[in-house]
Amino acid sequence: MKTIHKSAKLANVLYDVRGPIVDAAKQMEDEGQKIIKLNIGNMAPFGFDPPEEIQQDMIRNLPDSAGYSDSKGIFAARKAVMHYSQQQGIAGVTLDDIYLGNGASELIGMATNALLNDGDELLVPSPDYPLWTAATSLSGGKPVHYVCREDDGWMPDLADMRAKITPRTRGIVVINPNNPTGALYSDETLLGIIQIAREHDLVLLVDEVYDKVLYEGVKHTAMGSLSTDVLTLTFNSLSKAYRSCGYRAGWMIVSGPKAAARDYIEGLNMLANLKLGSNVPGQWAIQTALGGYQSINDLIKEGGRLRRQRDLAYELITAIPGVSCVKPQAALYMFPRLDPKLYPIDDDRQFFMEVLRATRVMLVQGSGFNYPDHQHFRIVFLPHEDDLREAIHRLAKFLEQYRQRHAKASSVVPMAPKKEAARA
Ligand SMILES: Cc1ncc(COP(=O)(O)O)c(C=O)c1O
Repeated sequence: MKTIHKSAKLANVLYDVRGPIVDAAKQMEDEGQKIIKLNIGNMAPFGFDPPEEIQQDMIRNLPDSAGYSDSKGIFAARKAVMHYSQQQGIAGVTLDDIYLGNGASELIGMATNALLNDGDELLVPSPDYPLWTAATSLSGGKPVHYVCREDDGWMPDLADMRAKITPRTRGIVVINPNNPTGALYSDETLLGIIQIAREHDLVLLVDEVYDKVLYEGVKHTAMGSLSTDVLTLTFNSLSKAYRSCGYRAGWMIVSGPKAAARDYIEGLNMLANLKLGSNVPGQWAIQTALGGYQSINDLIKEGGRLRRQRDLAYELITAIPGVSCVKPQAALYMFPRLDPKLYPIDDDRQFFMEVLRATRVMLVQGSGFNYPDHQHFRIVFLPHEDDLREAIHRLAKFLEQYRQRHAKASSVVPMAPKKEAARA
């Protein structure tokens, strides 16, 4: 049979969060080894359970969930999202502006597909949550990465963003709070980005799936509340704040000057109709989740499990010589840096494959997040404190050996080349 190749559209698609290192880990598990997984923001396996009330309401509504729903989603859930958008200060959102999907992921693909012609450009952060780069490419677009600066707390570099705008630029992706850095953007930064979008008639695509996962009392501002005169698509879901990734319940809100975007919105509606709605039991969870008691607050407050794990992971990782890290203010991640003088790394995927084999700790390398150097990696601080302690202890030992090996290698004085070799 003729060889069957994957589509060239996949050339730019990267998803190392579930990539080759995960395949290698799976093989090690099959061989009976126990892996500590610091690679993925999947909360339930680490004992972060969804609120019981959500489960009960889903079960109660299961008999009414067998049919397709309205393409944009059930009324009760969209109404709840509408109220949520009002609480967040996003002006003028009606039921019609809300689309439910199988997680934010599905809606991200829908939004890029409806927006981009072949070769159109989308400004995507670097580092990014790699779905955004992938969705842009799969939609025929070209992801153009703007820099987020580590020396500025991983804030987007607005000058770089501006410099990368071309006549083909259609929009700016903002991930706030950020995965993989854990950064939370100030209103000043958000207003700066909005100004760029305003000047160049760009669409804002704003991923706020971590908007409730905040530490030390910091406040998140919904970008849509500031961008009233710029077309803004806001993405969110139950996956993180309600520990319900598996229910695949997400939403997208369209706000700003909708009249000018009538054609684009028609495209979004066409795609929503094509997908025949999303998982209906998951939709029933939305209304219950957004109203009433917000149990995420117990996890993020001082002494709460997520807060303790963030503090511990940060403290332990930054105690390793040559490892620095911007302290995350939000989300479930941090993005530490390995000093290249102590840890010269040519291929970071290979490096973290070695880490996995030697330590049975799974991490994802920085290049997996479309970050251009080879000196970063992402830690997910979801495992219990004992596991985090053990994982980072093993990593520290591995890094100590790596440092020693490198120090020895670089202290060896190169021999003078033999005459024949020098002539060759
Ligand atoms: C920034 C960001 N956006 C979107 C998603 C996907 O969310 P969902 O489960 O709602 O599809 C994730 C998942 O980790 C994420 O980190």
